[in-house]
Amino acid sequence: MKLFIKKPIQQLMAATVETEKSLKRTLGVGSLIALGIGAIIGSGIFVRTAAAAGEHAGPAVTISFLIAAAGCALAGLCYAEFASMIPIAGSAYTYSYATMGEFIAWIIGWDLVLEYALGAATVSIGWAQYFNEFLHSFFNVHIPYQWAHSFFETSNTTTGMYAAEVGTRGIVNLPAILIIFLLTLLLIRGMAESAIVNNVIVIVKVAIVLLIIGLGWHYINPAFHTPYMIPANAGTVKVSTGVINYADTFNHGWLGVLRGASVVFFAFIGFDAVSTAAQEAKNPQKDMPKGILISLVICTALYILFSHVLTGLVSYKDFLIQAKEASVSYAIRTAMPGYEWLASLVTVSILAGFSSVILVMLMGQTRVFYTMSIDGLIPKIFSKLHPKYRTPYKSQWLFFGFVSIFAGFIPDRIVGDMVSIGTLFAFVLVCAGIFILRRTDPNIVRPFQTPLYMIVCPLGALICLCMIASEGWENWARLIVWLLIGFVIYFGYSVKRSHVRHGKVEPAVDPINPKFME
Ligand code: ALA
Repeated sequence: MKLFIKKPIQQLMAATVETEKSLKRTLGVGSLIALGIGAIIGSGIFVRTAAAAGEHAGPAVTISFLIAAAGCALAGLCYAEFASMIPIAGSAYTYSYATMGEFIAWIIGWDLVLEYALGAATVSIGWAQYFNEFLHSFFNVHIPYQWAHSFFETSNTTTGMYAAEVGTRGIVNLPAILIIFLLTLLLIRGMAESAIVNNVIVIVKVAIVLLIIGLGWHYINPAFHTPYMIPANAGTVKVSTGVINYADTFNHGWLGVLRGASVVFFAFIGFDAVSTAAQEAKNPQKDMPKGILISLVICTALYILFSHVLTGLVSYKDFLIQAKEASVSYAIRTAMPGYEWLASLVTVSILAGFSSVILVMLMGQTRVFYTMSIDGLIPKIFSKLHPKYRTPYKSQWLFFGFVSIFAGFIPDRIVGDMVSIGTLFAFVLVCAGIFILRRTDPNIVRPFQTPLYMIVCPLGALICLCMIASEGWENWARLIVWLLIGFVIYFGYSVKRSHVRHGKVEPAVDPINPKFME
């Protein structure tokens, strides 16, 4: 069986020539960095950081950020080499099909569903929290606990946004489904945000983070930073999904910091979005790696300072109780008297900022599946375009259903962990792939070469593997089940229909119509 059959690079390049007519090379390093930051800052910092600090790392979540950033930077270099070999718009799926063959491309494409579709679900759950906070602080109303939480969560506090009795069980997270529905409609109409809106959102997001760092710094209570790591004897806390026992291996000390890294890793997801813009970069070979790495460095610095302030405003245990939801607004309201306006500003900006992250993720998901469908690996329905709007509308609706199931019925910590483990796994494959390709195909033209690849590739893979290892058997099992489902589809469906195997040359059209790119 031709498991490792490759998509001819010429075919991909032919598509570039075609699409270059519609896509201008206009993006310089600055725009690439803005693109990266726009995709990166989202619910990772505004929601998952509190969970990582509360459950695993305490104030040392700052060190978790450093570990996650190191893994991302090393994998990012490999990503950049990958993308520069095939400087067209695409994802790790496209690159790997041309360089590592169909089977690996399938695994990566299948795995990207965890990153994009479940990523959208995770951010929508965070959006729902801030939406409730918005209703509560602006209109003094709130969506009842049952209708804003999944079945697997029960209320553990009577104060704050949810005046529910302790023990009230969730039914479905309606606001999370609502935002996915609205954004799906937008995507079907092909009215993705314009570059201007994206830039405004990026500026607002960065400004909010800087404001919180600058203003919050004076309110840090050093007592909350001592001890810096969670001690093993910190006891237990009842949370909405069960009980957190700090004596557990990955809930205190250095291993807790490592587990925290796998949680906050979510905050970095999206930096690879820069590589998908290769086609629009003025000088992809030089500017893309710079775009990827500089946006990573800026975000890492912001994240570390931000989490230092956040964990100084509220005790880490509180992030599991009162500060569990809309944690940043809660922390400001509680610890920074006179800064109500900042909390309100944060809430509103987050609603807008998260929407743009969800939009990009939903679009990225249908884009990858569109390409896989054009390649014959998944059914044609995923590449069916709307007669009027020229968008993959059927795919968009199917993913609305899929993403809603996770957003509505599964707690964010489970969905978020699945996103992290899936993306980390894709990074491991990319690091390993670059290492192997250097040995097996040393002559491929590589406009950008990962420096010291003998060290960078294995170290990148190792750091990502360590984060995967800290996620625990439940998350490993979820990843394995997901991959097994993928194998069944691949061997049962895709191998028989793969166009590359049957020598069909496909016009590799970009799925996203020009409107999407405006
Ligand atoms: N990095 C993105 C976020 O934190 C996915 O929301």
